[in-house]
Order: sequence, then structure tokens, then C-alpha cells
Amino acid sequence: MTETITPLTAFDDASLDEAFRALTDQVRSAASQLTTAEAQENFRLDWLGRKQGRLKLLSETWLKTAPPEAKKSLGMRFNTLKNEIEAALASEPASSKASSAPALDLSLPGIRRNIGVEHPLTRTMREMTAVFAALGYSVGIGPEVETDFYNFEALNFPPNHPARDTQDTLVVADQEGKPLRERLLMRTHTSPVQIRSMVSNPPPLRIVIPGKVHRNDESDATHSPIFHQVEGLCVDTNITFSDLKGTLDYAMKAFFGSSVKTRFFPSFFPFTEPSADVQISCPFCGQKGCRKCKFSGWIELLGCGMVDPAVFAAVDARRIENGLEPAYDTKKISGFAFGMGVERIAMMKYGVGDIGQFYSGDLRFLSQFV
Ligand code: DAH
Repeated sequence: MTETITPLTAFDDASLDEAFRALTDQVRSAASQLTTAEAQENFRLDWLGRKQGRLKLLSETWLKTAPPEAKKSLGMRFNTLKNEIEAALASEPASSKASSAPALDLSLPGIRRNIGVEHPLTRTMREMTAVFAALGYSVGIGPEVETDFYNFEALNFPPNHPARDTQDTLVVADQEGKPLRERLLMRTHTSPVQIRSMVSNPPPLRIVIPGKVHRNDESDATHSPIFHQVEGLCVDTNITFSDLKGTLDYAMKAFFGSSVKTRFFPSFFPFTEPSADVQISCPFCGQKGCRKCKFSGWIELLGCGMVDPAVFAAVDARRIENGLEPAYDTKKISGFAFGMGVERIAMMKYGVGDIGQFYSGDLRFLSQFV
């Protein structure tokens, strides 16, 4: 310490009190800032250093000039000050944990965190939904536990109609007393959400409906009792079958690539008339023939059709029951609908041979989709 020491001129108690109070304040304020072991050591040297420590210099200077009767009192005060300094050194520096921790070795490799990725089914469903969202479709969802009315009756599957058998429905137990249309079941397709959307919204309507569906199917390489669909519905004035063809052709090109072609074949669904199955030219082999298209050059991908007038009638009847204006007059409006299975598309796109892999939770399978 090279600091010059102010000599003491008065040695009465009051002067000593004042001088030592000032020193004590200095010690305390310096002690409160000792956050590292290094600062603590500097503080020790500053005050207690054997040769240049302040305490040493102060006591030498002041004791030398003190009158004999003041020396004892002065000595006691220096002792008290020394105790104060030693107490400050005995306590740990404020952030001793940081300072006593081993130094960081910046050359060590970092800890790699596993970041989850979107499940291939979620991704396929989201990408397909996004194609329609970009065309101005809103995204609609509905309940998985559905009533017979929405899943079947309003979609023109009358009671005991043979088409109901194709759906392998899982029904909720113990509902014998209930009217058929109110009975609960696991929805077998996303089409009931079409009805729910129309019952609560007047046309024009453009919605895309991604969702989970349930059927009483045995699991095998291509079947699962729970799977996913993406459904679409467009209702407005002057909607024609050409609009349906143009929309689906555009959507398949947007999803699979612009060189993909589509073709439509007559089919049957109770809720559409006419109905069609849509095939796309195989995007995987460019129609040269591969296992995915079973060497035919074409893949069947979705069902579609013009909304059956019976569906619009059921919707309007329910709207009236709910206290709403009927809004689906088939003299003024028409519409098309389509539906497709997400698993089938994802299996083809990613070359997955067994549908069960999607639900296995096996990280060796899932981590391939990073
Ligand atoms: N709901 C049908 C099924 O699960 C798929 C479907 C076909 C939906 C034609 C539609 C459609 O909207 O128009 O098999």
C-alpha cells in the first residue's frame, strides 16, 4: 500500500472515535464488495499486509505520535478494527460458488440435446391441410365421439342401409333406450364435420377437415382401428363437377409435384351424387412402374363427389330444429366434397411398409423423419 497516512492530531476519545468510525466504514464498504476469492485476497493484503498493509502503517504512524496516556486506548481500537477485518475475511466471498467451481473447459464438446420432430402422420396431415388453406379453405374440426345423426343419418345413410356395414362402426355401449340418431359412436370418417359446419354456418363454405377416425378393423400391415383422414367441403352458388376436378388436380400437383396427373372414375358414396374415385399418376416412378403403384402407373388416392341434395335437406332440417334459417336450398347452391386417408399417403410418400410403425413410438423408426 503506497497510500500516504494522514497523521492524527488530536488523541481525545471523541477524535479517536471519529477517526476509527471512518476506518470501520471503509473496511465494511470494501468487505461488502468481495465477490471473488481474488478480491478477498487483495482486501487482505491491503489491510493486513505485513509490510505495506494499512493497519501496519496506520498503527506505526499514529502510535508513534500519540501521547503515552492515549496509547492504550489507541491500541485497543486497532485491535477492534483488526477483528472487523478478520471477520470479513472469514466469511465466504459473496459468489463463492462461481469462483470455487472448476474453470470452464471451452474445448470440451457440448451436450447434444435431442430435439423432437413432427410425427410423419401429423406432418402429412398438416401439409395436405396447408394446400387447401392456401386456396382459401378454413380448417374445421369436430368430435371423435359422434352421434349416429352426424356420422350416418345426415350423410344419407338411412337406418339399416347396407352402406353402414362398410364402416365397421365402434359404438358406445348401453344406449338401447336412446333414439338411433342420438346414439353415440366413434366417428368412422371425418364427413360428420361437413354436416356440423353446414348446420352452424350458411354458405359460401370452404373447409378442410383433418382428423382421427375409428373403425372396428383388425390391425394388419395396411389397416389400423384408428387412422386419419383429411376431408374437404366447398359449397357456393354454381359449384360444378369441373370445380371439383380442377381443385383436386391442383391440390395433388401442389402436394406430389407438378408433373402429377389425375383421373376420375365413377364410384359410390351415400352423401355424394355423382361420386368418383380419384387416381394420380405414380409420382414415385413417373409411371414407369414400381411397387408403390403395383406396376400400373396409377395410385388410387381419394373419394369425392357432388354433395347429395339429401345431405343439404338434412342440414336444413337440423338448422330449423336449432332455431336457424334454412340456408342450403339446392335451387341456389351446390357443392363438392372429398376425403382421403392420411396413413396411405404417408406410407407411400415415406416408403413405410407397415402401418403399425406409425403408432409404435419406436424412436429408431421416428428418428428417420428428422
Ligand atoms: N368418408 C369417406 C370414407 O371414409 C371418404 C369420402 C368419400 C369423403 C367421398 C368425402 C367424399 O367427402 O366426397 O370412406
